[in-house]
Amino acid sequence: MYAIETQNLSKSFHGLYAVNGLDMHVPVGAIYGFIGENGSGKSTTEKLLCGHLVPDSGKMKLFDKSYTDAGVRYRVGALIENTGCFGNSSVYQNLMMQAINLNLKDRDAEIKRVLKIVRMEDSAQTKFKNCSLGMKQRIGIAMALLGDPALLILDEPINGLDTDGMRIMREILVDITQNSGCTVLISSHILGELEKIATHYGIIRQGKMIQELTAAEMESRCRMFSSIKSTDMQKAFLALHREYGNVKLEDGMIRVYDVNDTERIVSVLMKQNIPVTEISKNKIGLEEYYLELMSQKEK
Ligand SMILES: Nc1ncnc2c1ncn2[C@@H]1O[C@H](COP(=O)(O)OP(=O)(O)O)[C@@H](O)[C@H]1O
Ligand SMILES: [Mg+2]
Repeated sequence: MYAIETQNLSKSFHGLYAVNGLDMHVPVGAIYGFIGENGSGKSTTEKLLCGHLVPDSGKMKLFDKSYTDAGVRYRVGALIENTGCFGNSSVYQNLMMQAINLNLKDRDAEIKRVLKIVRMEDSAQTKFKNCSLGMKQRIGIAMALLGDPALLILDEPINGLDTDGMRIMREILVDITQNSGCTVLISSHILGELEKIATHYGIIRQGKMIQELTAAEMESRCRMFSSIKSTDMQKAFLALHREYGNVKLEDGMIRVYDVNDTERIVSVLMKQNIPVTEISKNKIGLEEYYLELMSQKEK
């Protein structure tokens, strides 16, 4: 079963499609990295899923039920664009207002539960306006977590965070999926960060899904390679090409794809008296894979 399944989903504004026949499949329990350039339709898709916008056409199912099903709507928490918090109210007061909105029981206990998840138990009395960006993003997640949703939709929650803020955010998201069994849809253009937590990816371009894949599939496509520098690059290039075939010159280094036996590479070159000044093992990351995919689709 999918937590989210869309079929041919479309939404236009003034005759222009923001989401254009989108097919999306988010398995239950996944951290689904929703990747795309600015304006590719990520936020619009998320607003459709949350019921903030009405689609022109297409199907949307949440946990195998129509997205209009009240029972299922109740299980979706979202943070899209901003938290809607009041600056002069404390973190606790903001959460309390939302808990009242949602008609939750045991509000105090529920607020303490979500504050613990986002590691903000000690900041409950801080005014929202005095919180750092990282804290505000976490408060947004706490708001979305009220009522124990089965699906969390987060629009660029790691945007603008520093390294430490990102690390905490990563820990929180892994915690939510592993301990609360929650499914998370997270959109971002900070690909390197998603790479550390996503179990699945969906890549969107101009409102269309260009590829969905699991982290394992991404891993196998993100190829490993060794990169080599020599004082005689031309000779080294030819020798490595003869030996390994799959060789490319990139950023002033020679890349030998699908090979990580650097000792053997060195010995191949040494035997031909070609000096090696630098050698390392590498992997094409998500970012590079994504850019390559984008440039292929443009052709
Ligand atoms: N309310 C709106 N009215 C008109 N155009 C919109 C509206 N919301 C989004 N768009 C347009 O739809 C496209 C997709 O936007 P969006 O979903 O925000 O992309 P992303 O979140 O991937 O950056 C953009 O071209 C944007 O200008
Ligand atoms: Mg957006």
